[in-house]
Amino acid sequence: MQATTTRNLIILTGSALFVFIACSKNSGIVSPTPTPNPTPVDPVAAVLNLPATPFNYSNIGLPGYLNSPNIIGQINTPVSNPITDNGATLGRVLFYDKKLSLNNTISCASCHKQASGFSDPLTKSTGFNGGLTGRNSMSLIDAKYYPNGRFFWDQRAATLEDQVLMPIQDLVEMGMTLPALEAKLKTLAYYPPLFQKAFGDTVITSGRISAALSQFVRSIVSFQSKYDAGRNTFPAVPAPPPNAAFPNFTPQENRGKEVFLVPTLGGCAACHGSEIFTAPQEKNNGLDLTTTDRGFGAVVNNPSLDATFKVSTLRNVELTAPYMHDGRFTTLEQVVEHYSSGVRNHPNLSPQLRLPNGLPRQANLSPADKAALVAFLKTLTDNTIATEVKYSDPFK
Ligand code: HEC
Ligand code: HEC
Repeated sequence: MQATTTRNLIILTGSALFVFIACSKNSGIVSPTPTPNPTPVDPVAAVLNLPATPFNYSNIGLPGYLNSPNIIGQINTPVSNPITDNGATLGRVLFYDKKLSLNNTISCASCHKQASGFSDPLTKSTGFNGGLTGRNSMSLIDAKYYPNGRFFWDQRAATLEDQVLMPIQDLVEMGMTLPALEAKLKTLAYYPPLFQKAFGDTVITSGRISAALSQFVRSIVSFQSKYDAGRNTFPAVPAPPPNAAFPNFTPQENRGKEVFLVPTLGGCAACHGSEIFTAPQEKNNGLDLTTTDRGFGAVVNNPSLDATFKVSTLRNVELTAPYMHDGRFTTLEQVVEHYSSGVRNHPNLSPQLRLPNGLPRQANLSPADKAALVAFLKTLTDNTIATEVKYSDPFK
């Protein structure tokens, strides 16, 4: 109603101006050539491909086993920042916007690529000024499920809301300050309407930027892998036993599942547990004999936690190479070989990788079981996540 009135007014004023100019011309006074009335442009539609009704981020219908108490208990969403469809939509735009970096060259997605499980195929990622990050980029899939709620390999961010503002201010990654970021977003015509939809008014603050980015990141949940299709053929609780054959798996994949789950075989589930395939907190998996990166130990200044790191999900691990905090392994075969024969006796090696006599536990897998384990890890690939439009770049 109001928009129509305004438009009519513009048309009227425009026509009046044209008549005036036309008359002036007749009277011989030099005047500028009349320009056609600019049609009012929607500042959002001008640069972004967004659906009229937002995509569904807030109410994804998860299978029963992902709604069980042990999974719900891992969720780190604060009550103050639940996912809304408009909030996650704003988060998606921010995530893909290179304007978040000092020189408009880098977005979050530059280092967290959808096709790579929201990680980076490079061992170290390149920041806005050509500098390299200190560690390997991390997958953002299922970030919502990590019970201690801490983020980064060394868990230095206490919450996701804290974490998402850190790369923006990082001197290697995006090089901005929060006041400069707020001021810049205010100059971009597409943001006020998006903030209005997400938060009820057009005010742009770093707190709202953090909330929206966190909502988008937490919305990225994987539940459509080959593993999920197989798991769904069993009741939600109790979980099927390790040797229960999934009907959609090959014999090799089923054997790999067993190797993964059984403590005396791969024993992987001791740390990559539940259907999220993550541990409740940081661990040391014996990559090095001595500390090369203090990890969480430096954050809490506690040497007994030196060289412990976050255990993020293994979902989509096929897409997130290279592996580990320093990206030292380029293939899943190398990762499996590490656990089969290469576990080092670091003083902080987690108990799940120690024998009763205290020595590191090497899984000593046969070549067939190593191959089966890799085949199983690949059943965790969810190609929907890798291609779904609601997680993709919305910029035209
Ligand atoms: C220049 C590359 C780069 C950019 C840009 C970047 N990241 Fe990251 N991101 C990384 C790296 C590298 C890590 C791991 C760093 C570490 O642990 O020390 C990481 C870690 C994370 C994590 C931790 C995941 C976990 O499970 O703990 C989140 C979440 C994240 N980034 C989100 C974002 C968001 C949101 C943006 C944009 C505002 C962004 N990143 C921009 C490279 C980047
Ligand atoms: C003691 C707990 C523990 C056990 C048991 C364990 N892991 Fe891990 N895993 C970790 C930790 C901790 C990391 C991250 C280490 C780092 O980067 O420093 C990790 C990382 C990984 C990664 C790389 C993830 C990435 O995004 O880079 C893969 C793949 C993996 N583990 C597979 C396995 C498999 C397969 C097994 C069984 C053979 C296994 N893990 C057993 C603790 C464990």
